Amino acid sequence: MKKLIVGNWKMHLGSAEVVDLAEHIHVESNSPDVVICPPFPYLQLVGGVILDSMIMLGAQDCHSAESGAHTGDVSASMLSDVGCEYVIIGHSERRQGHHETSYMISDKAVTATNHDLKVIICVGETEAEYEEGSTERVIRAQLEESIPEGLSAYNMSIAYEPVWAIGTGRTPEMKEIQHVHAFIRKELAGLCANGDLVRILYGGSVNAKNAKSILSIPNVGGVLVGGASLKAEDFNKIIEAGEEE
Ligand code: PGA
Repeated sequence: MKKLIVGNWKMHLGSAEVVDLAEHIHVESNSPDVVICPPFPYLQLVGGVILDSMIMLGAQDCHSAESGAHTGDVSASMLSDVGCEYVIIGHSERRQGHHETSYMISDKAVTATNHDLKVIICVGETEAEYEEGSTERVIRAQLEESIPEGLSAYNMSIAYEPVWAIGTGRTPEMKEIQHVHAFIRKELAGLCANGDLVRILYGGSVNAKNAKSILSIPNVGGVLVGGASLKAEDFNKIIEAGEEE
């Protein structure tokens, strides 16, 4: 299966810059699957730029309700309507900054997949949890509570993002990533259909230099990239690193 490379642009860039960035991302037939996730106001704009390319459009979050009085929120049907194929849910910046619980994330996953969006469910331990050796316990609970019944490899990927590795330039050792991804693979067997085929992405300080070795770790099915996805040159190198051999 192709690797999945996701660029999470977070709350960065303006209208001219998102167009320029999207125009400079190169995806060819032997490239991995590539998804870019601009801020909500630019989804349609960027969608227009990538319309005739193989780059797919994703969003950074959605609400669990179909519609209604939720000031400032965006529904899954709106995302589908503007051409999104993917949505990131449960990013640690939402879990922490917006107090999102795993149960809320599970509800979002249900609504998103009902609208034919593929969900990228994020999990990961904090630095304190890492230090005290609780990584597996934390991730097991996040997986059990965040994955609703009925999802499969077709409409779900998991992103393992240690919170302490996001935007810090620090990454776990390769053998630690390998260990956690193998653990997630094992857990998925009991939580969804085709757990062995679910793409498990690594995220947290992925860059043009380390992408190749991270992508070669067993059970790493792709990467979720923040900072390095904001520069076309770097992001293109990461895409190249995920090409099929
Ligand atoms: P980073 O962010 O690549 O800047 O560490 C990753 C993420 O938050 O998804």
